[in-house]
Amino acid sequence: MSTELKEKETEAETETESASSRQSRRMEQKRQRASRRDLKEEAREEIDDADDTIEIKVFRFDPEVAGKEEPRFDTFHVPFFKGMTVLDALIYARDHYDTSLTFRHSCRQAICGSDALFVNGTQRLGCKTQIADLEDHLGSTIRIEPLPHQEVVKDLVVDMEHFYDQMEAVEPFFDADELPEGELEEQRQDRENREKIKMSTRCIWCGACMSSCNIAAGDNEYLGPAAINKAYRFAMDEREGEDRKQQRLNIIEQEHGVWRCQTQFSCTEVCPKDIPLTEHIQELKREAVKNNLKFW
Ligand code: SF4
Ligand code: FES
Repeated sequence: MSTELKEKETEAETETESASSRQSRRMEQKRQRASRRDLKEEAREEIDDADDTIEIKVFRFDPEVAGKEEPRFDTFHVPFFKGMTVLDALIYARDHYDTSLTFRHSCRQAICGSDALFVNGTQRLGCKTQIADLEDHLGSTIRIEPLPHQEVVKDLVVDMEHFYDQMEAVEPFFDADELPEGELEEQRQDRENREKIKMSTRCIWCGACMSSCNIAAGDNEYLGPAAINKAYRFAMDEREGEDRKQQRLNIIEQEHGVWRCQTQFSCTEVCPKDIPLTEHIQELKREAVKNNLKFW
């Protein structure tokens, strides 16, 4: 077969292939549109049948889609069930009304820290916040916004990069003074010391505390409550030894460290893991003072 004929055959095959892939893409889009119609219909029926419904007003913003770059709020009606969380309501709205509604979530049990949101004016985890615990949940609209003081990427998703940088700045890893002799032997800690740091180990890196902090909002370099709590977790761990503790204190004593905290308690109030953040910051301030006392 001549080269020219072969090329023609290949071209024809490619055209047939792309026509068939266009066809299957169209079919898929059609199928998705039909399923969205079905879900909207299902939502209408469920709302008619529901004993109670709720109204959620959700912040929307998409800088990449023409016509959606301006921030706005969308309202969704959702059938209410006992035990429903804010995250459940968002998932319902996304699955039944608007698949482009964007928010982070994963574990749905207050462990991964990915769904910290600003609900009715307070930082909360969507999966831990029961709709029934929100005041007037059946009578008024529940307002759901992204975490304040963070750059919004899309809808309820914020850029966590700065928060992670602050966490990294305190060197958030265990750095033991001595290692046990046996390679697989556990690094033991005495019971009292474990109790002391117990609460500080519960952080799930959700960023709610940082978002609630007025100082962090005004000082971009402030380490923030979560990072200082992380420093506390290791500085108070006796297995790390005095030299390492000294290095950790040097980090939190700096200009944008513990001394920036004005004990407003906002971080402690919003922390979904009930970590006494302000208390930990105060204790590190005392440690820093002791560390700098000089006796002549
Ligand atoms: S300290 Fe609490 S609020 Fe702050 S990141 Fe950790 S779990 Fe979230
Ligand atoms: S989904 Fe993991 S903490 Fe809420």
